[in-house]
Parts: sequence; C-alpha cells; structure tokens
Amino acid sequence: MKNLWDQKTASRLEKNPLQLRVFSSQLLGLDSDLVLHGGGNTSVKLRETNIFGEEEDILYVKGSGRNLATIDIEGFTPLRMTHMNKLAELAHISDTMMVREQQLAMTNPDAPSPSVEALLHSIIPFSWIDHTHADAVVTLTNTPKGDKLVQDVYGDSMLIIPYVMPGFKLARKVYEITQKVDWQQYEGMILLNHGIISFGAEAHESYERMINAVTLAEKFLKKYSSMQKNNIKKKAPALNQETLSTLARIRKKVSIIRGAASLARLNNSPEAQFFSSLPNVKNISTRGPITSDHLIRTKPAPVYLNQKNVEKSIEDFASKYEAYFDRHTNRKQTRLDSAPRWGVWPEQGIVSFGRNPDETEIISDIAMHTAKAIQRAENINSVNYRGWKPISEDHIFEAEYWELQQAKLKTEFQPPEFEGKIAVVTGAASGIGLACAEHFSQLGAAVAGLDINPEINNILSEHTNSGSTHILGIQCDVTEKHAVAKAVAKTVQCFGGIDILVLNAGTFPAGQTIEEIEDETWNKSLKTNLTAPQQLLQSCVPFLKEGIDPSVVFIASRNVPAPGPGASAYSVPKAGQTQLARIAALELGKYGIRVNIIHPDCVYDTGLWTSKALERSARRYGLTVEEYKSRNILKTDVKTIEVARMVCAMAGSVFAKTTGAQIPIDGGNERVI
Ligand code: NAI
Repeated sequence: MKNLWDQKTASRLEKNPLQLRVFSSQLLGLDSDLVLHGGGNTSVKLRETNIFGEEEDILYVKGSGRNLATIDIEGFTPLRMTHMNKLAELAHISDTMMVREQQLAMTNPDAPSPSVEALLHSIIPFSWIDHTHADAVVTLTNTPKGDKLVQDVYGDSMLIIPYVMPGFKLARKVYEITQKVDWQQYEGMILLNHGIISFGAEAHESYERMINAVTLAEKFLKKYSSMQKNNIKKKAPALNQETLSTLARIRKKVSIIRGAASLARLNNSPEAQFFSSLPNVKNISTRGPITSDHLIRTKPAPVYLNQKNVEKSIEDFASKYEAYFDRHTNRKQTRLDSAPRWGVWPEQGIVSFGRNPDETEIISDIAMHTAKAIQRAENINSVNYRGWKPISEDHIFEAEYWELQQAKLKTEFQPPEFEGKIAVVTGAASGIGLACAEHFSQLGAAVAGLDINPEINNILSEHTNSGSTHILGIQCDVTEKHAVAKAVAKTVQCFGGIDILVLNAGTFPAGQTIEEIEDETWNKSLKTNLTAPQQLLQSCVPFLKEGIDPSVVFIASRNVPAPGPGASAYSVPKAGQTQLARIAALELGKYGIRVNIIHPDCVYDTGLWTSKALERSARRYGLTVEEYKSRNILKTDVKTIEVARMVCAMAGSVFAKTTGAQIPIDGGNERVI
C-alpha cells in the first residue's frame, strides 16, 4: 500500500487542524483498496471556546454519506464530547435514539448528520482516528479462523474486536472491552468482518499506522495466497449479438422483479471473466459480502446466471431472497424488493444493476473488489486459514434490515420519470437532438447520443453537466450500417438495453425544384433522412422488444402534411419516414413498442436554420425572413426545448396508450389544420 503522505502540504496545514483532517481523509479516500464510494470515516478531537467563553472538547467526525475522497471542512460535524461520552456509558439505546442524541450533541445545526460511527470515535482516547474497510484486512478476517489469523499477522499491536453490528452495539462493545485496556500499547483496532481503525496523537501517526497495518495484510496475502493464473484473453472482447440480447433480457427480468426500470452493466474484463468462470464460483460468490457496509447496495449475494435460462436464475434468486427474509423477519420490517444488485455470468463476466449509472458503477466496483477478496481468501495456502467465510446470515439480515435503513423507506421519494431507462437519440450534437438528450438526462434517463460530429462527447458532457457515466456520446455516421451496429452494441453493453429511440438526425438539402435537382442531392437526402432511420430502427428492434415501456419517436417535419415547392429532396424522404413510422407502429405494437411521429416547424435555435437557409425558404414562399418567421397561426417560433418536452412526453406515460400518431409542433399551420 502506497504511503501518500506529503509532509510539505501537511506542514502548511498544521495551523488549521481541520484542513489537515481534510487532507489526510482525502488521502485515504483516494485509494479504492481502502474505502469505496463513501465508505470509511475519520475524525479529529479539538478544544474550542463556545459563545459563552467556555472551553469544550469537540469531536469533528465525518458527516454521514460524505465521501472521503472529496470531503471538505463542511463535511465534518462538530459534536460535544461531554454529551457523546455520556452516551457510551448507557447500557443500551436503539440506533434511532443514538442518531437523535448525536444530533443533539452537534454544536453547528447546519452541519451534516454525523456518521453512525461517531460514538465509536468519541470513545477512542486519541485525537486522530482513521477508519477504513481495507480489502486486504477484511479479507483476512473473512476466513474460518479470521481472529487467529489477524492475531498472527499483527501480534499485540492491534486490538481485535469481534463482529457486532455497527452503530450503538459496536461502540458499546468497544467501550466494554477497553475498560481496563492500556490504549497506548495499541496502534489501532481490527473490527472482524468489518474494517480497521488506526489512531494517533498526530494526523500523520494515525495515517501511517493505517498504511503500515494494511501493508502487513497485503504482504501476508501476497506471500501466502497465490491468485490462480488468469489465462483468459488479455483484452475485453467485443460482445456478440447473442450476448447483447441476453444482457437485455437479464436487465428486463431484473427490472420487472425490482418493480422499476434498472440499468445493467456487463464488466467483461479479463478479471471479471476469470472470476465468473471459476468452477466453484456459484458457491464462493454467494456466501456473503466483504463488509456489512456494502449490503445496502449489493444485497447479501449476487445472482448466479445460468446461461441456459437467465430469467429462471433471476426468479430463483428472488424466491430465495424472499425465503431469507421470511426466515429472519420479526414481522415488523418491510421487505425490500427481491431483485439482485449484481450477477455472476459464467464465461461472460460480472453484471451490475442500478437505478442510475452512478449506482450501477458503484455496485460494479464493489462487486470487483468482492470477487478479488473472495479469490484471495480461497487461495490462502494454509489449510487452517483458507476459505471465504463472511458474517453469518443472521448478521447479514441484521445489517440489511437495520432500523435506520428501514426508516428511510418511509420517506417518500419520487424518482425522476425516466430513471433506469435508456434513450438513444440521433443527431444529438446540435439543435433538437441535443435538447432531447439534455431533457431525457434531466428526467433521469441514461442517454446515448449519436452524431457524425466528432465533438459529440464533449458537447454532451458540457450541456448535460451529468458526467460521463450518465450520457454516452458516440461518434457515428447514421448512414453507415456498420457504425450504427457498433453504436447500438456500445449502448447496450454500457446500459443494458434500449427503451427509447429518437430518430432525429437529419439534413436539410439546398432547395431545388424537381426539374433542377441533382442526383447527388436527392440520393444523399434519401440516405440520411430515410434509409438511415430505417436501418437504425432495424438494429434497435431486437433490444426495444426487451425494453421497458419501449417507445420510438420520429422527428419528421411540417413538410409532410404541408409540403412546399422546391423542397422535394427533403419532403419526400420525410414523408417516407412518416410512412415507415406508421408501418412500424403496426408491426411493433404486438411487442408493446409504441411508435409516434412529431412534425416540427419553425425551430430556429438549431444548426439547420442558418441565415442562408432562412433566406432561401422565405424566398420560396415569396416572403421576407421576418414574415416567414411569423407566418404560423400563433405568430411564434418553436424552441428546441419545446420539441424536446414533446418528445419526452411521447416517450413517457402521457402517451402510454398512443401509437401511430402524428403530432404537429409548428405554432399552428392552416394547411395542416
Ligand atoms: P441541427 O442541424 O441543429 O441538428 C442535426 C444534427 O444531426 C447535427 O448535430 C448533425 O451533425 C447531425 N447529423 C447530420 N447528419 C448526420 C449523420 N449522417 N449521422 C449522424 N448525425 C448526423 O438540426 P435540427 O433542426 O435540430 O434538426 C433535427 C431534426 O429535426 C432533423 O431531422 C430535421 O429535419 C428536423 N426538423 C427540424 C426543423 C427545424 O425547424 N429546425 C423543422 C422540422 C424538422
């Protein structure tokens, strides 16, 4: 384990202990072998003067849900030590009561709610405390004789605490065990099946003790646990059509059982494939988590996906999960949904499921760290210590159905309309397509935006401000069949399927009469405005069939119901597109796929309406540009966001019972009416 301590920076921050606390917390947070996505916590004890001029001992502890990698001063919560120390003397209180009391101990009501392990921090008589779930340490403890193994590794330098549920029980256990202990003889504590704590009089002492202790565990594993040779291909192979379709079926089944659309991401890296191909993978992967902290994200175990019938594997997982709940519940808890959060797919890799791309990625990371820990424990070469043995099922249930998590279920949360859904939008680098990608993303969808523009990825991340995990920009000329197939495959591998397809990419060729029109102009427009949407729809249909409330929206044109002279190269393929959409509605209805058409006009905040194009069109109608722009009934222009809202409505519940419809969004056109 690399020691990242930088004394120059630390010396600069010494005068401000909270800044120093931020610095060393971030060092821990940066290493995913120590903590993952919001795990772990840290604290510092300071003496401060209150508004009455009285001196108080204050514990600054990480706020609940804060991420050590990105924490700042505001992420730490100040608590009065006198109140906290009294709490530890109580023989028993519920965690709900403990959380309430911790909030009463806060000296700043605007600070975040303190970590549920704040009480534990207050008991430990050191100024600086670091707590992580270091993979190597927890791996050693998740073995049949984990307590003896860590004793062998650490001798008397670490206090060993048997597993108890984090929260009041753990704090109280440590309080009881340490009543007669000389703290100075220890550098930290090993919390069996949970994590490691280091402490010190100075920030660097606590940090270095953490790094040294984790290094010892890593060295042990390196020496005594040889990972099996990973002789699977070195590069993740491209997925074939069959694997992609199976992935979409897996995602659909998981979404149905979860009762909400979910994403699925297949990690087919050599490591993931190797793990999924181990002969005993079903047995070893389903015993339990690395640390109980992960349960709320991952559930007790992954689903083992039997290639022959993936749907049945997921149904069996759900029945087993329900039986596990029935075995342990005191009838006061509310059962969580019975869908898996990750899966082991033999020969293919590891699949993670989440309601949004962030959750899917977090679960994917936890799953990969878990897979590594399991293999290391299973390969320890001493028979006395070998084997993956996490906490018992009772403890797993206690952690998963913790009263604090159950209480959260009562707070009503309305997820965004398209959460867990996957939308493909073509022509997403500009105008209507960009507005659609942006709006779907704001409404919670994972979006793949296809465009011929090589800047597509940058444009989307700039405009959507949602990070690369939520929105995927794929450079693709939609007239190229091979490129389209690749873009569709990339979308499915990344998100798990396709629910919404917006066929928007289009061009507006120079206006020419039928007499003048050049072959090239005609053929090019047919290719982009008619053949491309047909091919894209064809590529997506197999995935839309496995989609959740699947829907296709064609962006055609007012030129279809009300054509103008000199625009046959544009209007004819748009009319063909409309006919294609109507037939698609007829053919795909039996699979629950809705197909609808939007006919926009006068959407001037787009790339299509250059000043030249405006002048050209105005001329065709014998109007000035201003007259042309206000020639509709409502005397208005239509904004791209307004078209995007219409598209989202059509793909959503408002139009749930509508297919084959053509809706104008054109400010009202006499000829259309
Ligand atoms: P735009 O020019 O702002 O956006 C079109 C996007 O499609 C561009 O990002 C472009 O790079 C992309 N694109 C073009 N050819 C492509 C190809 N072969 N492969 C991949 N991407 C390609 O134009 P706007 O106005 O947003 O147009 C979007 C759709 O709306 C078009 O189908 C257009 O016919 C239709 N429409 C627009 C109206 C308007 O008033 N702006 C009115 C009626 C229909």
